[in-house]
Amino acid sequence: MFNFGTGIIGSLFKIIKMIAEVGVSVGALALLGIYTYQNKLIYPASMNDGHGYCATPDEYEMPNYESINLITEDGETLQCYSIKHDINSINYSNKTVLILSPNAGNIGHALPIVSIFYNQFGYNVFIYSYRGYGRSTGTASEHGLKIDAQRVIKYLTEEDEQYQQSSIVLYGRSLGGAVAIYIAATMSQAISGLILENTFLSIRKTVPHVFPLLKYFTSFVHQNWDSEKLVPLIPAKIPVILLSARNDEIVPPSHMDAIYSRLKSEDKVIYKFENSNHNDTVIQPQYWERIQQFIQDKVNPVGY
Ligand SMILES: *[C@@H]1O[C@H](CO)[C@@H](O)[C@H](O)[C@H]1NC(C)=O
Ligand SMILES: *[C@@H]1O[C@H](CO)[C@@H](O)[C@H](O)[C@H]1NC(C)=O
Ligand SMILES: *[C@@H]1O[C@H](CO)[C@@H](O)[C@H](O)[C@H]1NC(C)=O
Repeated sequence: MFNFGTGIIGSLFKIIKMIAEVGVSVGALALLGIYTYQNKLIYPASMNDGHGYCATPDEYEMPNYESINLITEDGETLQCYSIKHDINSINYSNKTVLILSPNAGNIGHALPIVSIFYNQFGYNVFIYSYRGYGRSTGTASEHGLKIDAQRVIKYLTEEDEQYQQSSIVLYGRSLGGAVAIYIAATMSQAISGLILENTFLSIRKTVPHVFPLLKYFTSFVHQNWDSEKLVPLIPAKIPVILLSARNDEIVPPSHMDAIYSRLKSEDKVIYKFENSNHNDTVIQPQYWERIQQFIQDKVNPVGY
């Protein structure tokens, strides 16, 4: 008589339960999607025609370049450009800039920047595509990109005599900054200077800023790039310059401030570009002057 189980309240209960279950399923599916497809979100290697045409250094007045393919220990092939100055020139700088690319496009797109380091400043430049990007094989992942970094550092410090002698400076923008921090923290003996631009403490701490709805689900981020943990491991003797866009719409500028304060470097400086967004810092006034000054004055041999 008082059994509401099959009455209106029972039906209502069933409907609510069903909605809840559907909701949970949709939510679970979405999270499964985030879990499964985050590599595609975090490493959009096809964006900006990344797998399309790849310009070569001779198109930017760097005819003496080599195209090199490095094979990683797990069998991937990394597409690299190696651009060296004449070691016998009287003004040879003995410095090499290793460019750690930001997240989209291919190494051809970076050639205007390569040309500044090489033609205007006189430094050797080595640049490579992470696995899955450009003409490199495989698919991108944090684990894979770290193997790639190890391979490149091995080449520069053990397999090529000219690079081996030179002082290596890392230039990392955004995701490239995370790779640079990884190298400086774990292969520090190879490194004489570190340039970081608009990079993050970790992907988990960046996600809520880009996708506010995901702020409760950051534990699903398995591609974390925990720079926050690695930064204090960078030896104090490595000089560091940080270039921070204060209107960065992707990485909160507070991340750069926190990286700056966590760095143990005895010689660190942060420049803040008030009117700059995530990707236009390279065209801000004083950007290149500050970088050149840093490499000349803080990296051995000083003055070149
Ligand atoms: C360095 O010297 C060479 C000649 O040895 C000259 O061609 C070149 O322009 C000089 N580079 C710079 C950056 O001064
Ligand atoms: C470059 O610097 C290294 C380390 O200081 C030194 O051993 C080497 O002779 C230098 N090479 C040139 C060409 O200046
Ligand atoms: C920044 O990104 C926007 C949109 O993707 C692009 O139009 C612009 O050219 C980029 N600016 C620089 C300096 O790369």
